[in-house]
Amino acid sequence: MQISVQERLIRPARNILGSLRLPGDKSISHRYALLGGFAEGTSCFTNFSTGADCASTLACMQVLGAKVNRTGPDSVEITGVSGRVTPSAHPLDCGNSGSTMRMISGLLAPQTGRFTLIGDASLSRRPMERIRKPLEAMGARLTLTEGHAPLTIEGGPLKAIDYTTPVPSAQVKSCILLAGLQTSGTTTVHEAVRTRDHSELALRAFGAQLSRTASSVSIPGPQSLHAIEAAVPGDISSAAFFLCAAALFPGSSLVIDSLGLNPTRAVLLDVLISLGAKISVLNLEEKHAELVGVVQIAGPAEGLGSADVSGALAAQLIDELPVLAAIAPFTSGGIRIRGARELRVKESDRIALVAKNLRAMGAEVAEFDDGLDVPGGQALHGATVDSGGDHRIAMAFSIAALRADGETLIQGAESASISFPEFFDLLDQVAER
Ligand code: S3P
Repeated sequence: MQISVQERLIRPARNILGSLRLPGDKSISHRYALLGGFAEGTSCFTNFSTGADCASTLACMQVLGAKVNRTGPDSVEITGVSGRVTPSAHPLDCGNSGSTMRMISGLLAPQTGRFTLIGDASLSRRPMERIRKPLEAMGARLTLTEGHAPLTIEGGPLKAIDYTTPVPSAQVKSCILLAGLQTSGTTTVHEAVRTRDHSELALRAFGAQLSRTASSVSIPGPQSLHAIEAAVPGDISSAAFFLCAAALFPGSSLVIDSLGLNPTRAVLLDVLISLGAKISVLNLEEKHAELVGVVQIAGPAEGLGSADVSGALAAQLIDELPVLAAIAPFTSGGIRIRGARELRVKESDRIALVAKNLRAMGAEVAEFDDGLDVPGGQALHGATVDSGGDHRIAMAFSIAALRADGETLIQGAESASISFPEFFDLLDQVAER
């Protein structure tokens, strides 16, 4: 078979064995790049995400006046603009990264000047109204293109607000906090589900003060930030692919070192345990308030059971749902997912693509507006999988392919490099064939 550079052929595996250390967390790397680029002084980051998304954030901060020095493949020095960016005549290119576009909008809205943000075809389809509303309530002017990018911000001094996010979104929360950081008065964001709190932890690490309740976070402004040195914890959303792979094989044994275990990100471990996987967490420590530890996993001899994911759990597991759904046919009782409508507006419509690709591999699956039912006890056969250019779909089906009958061709496999360029090499390292 002729295979193009965008494709990857995945052969079934017999087992998953070994130990891994993963590149830095994408969410944390974005925040460190934004805050380091905005702070006073030179920040140094090691184990910085190697994905294209975080490179987009660094490139935008560079255009805005920060000095970025790549000191190694995963280490970065960044000298910040001390709270005052330089407007650029050229649009800021956020690439494929919704996090970059939504968060940087909050950083730029209180700055003097005009800023235009653009992205690739996928990002240009994603909803941006969700940031326009709160930023306009603060007094900023944002022009969208039919609700999407390209978007233009006419920046200037803002007023503090009290805002309740209508959909659970850490990106929207972070956008508002970054605007609030530079705004007189106290800005408060209320959220029904506690979304990932990396912005709160990173802002504190860079010297800002903020306060939290169970369902809100408040930031007084204006405040300035100071450079830090930090090692970024391994990315648990990247680890998810390997954890799910190991869970599929009775007798597997995988150790993942220096992994980010922030409680707002680590619920996959609870779901895998409830499915029957044997997991232990060792050597927990805190790095700039982020929990980091070693995770050991072994697949259960009796195979995986069943799971129901909905409500707050669906929101907190949002990036891991594609791979959970992709391995669901190999459980005994299936996996049911609801309350995950947001999956339809990620880098692709992840509900539609998961259903399409599971069917291509021979599985039965029911698709709902806000989720999927994937019955258990099904066998998959190798097939051609359409990633839709979405990194998490490409990687999720590479994991399902490990237990399929025959080989699976992943189209658009190069998209893995958006978050995890090392994925296929590491998979070959731990998959016993
Ligand atoms: C992210 C938040 C989530 C997540 C995305 C990264 C972040 O998006 O899906 O991959 O770093 O804040 P939403 O804020 O749209 O839920």
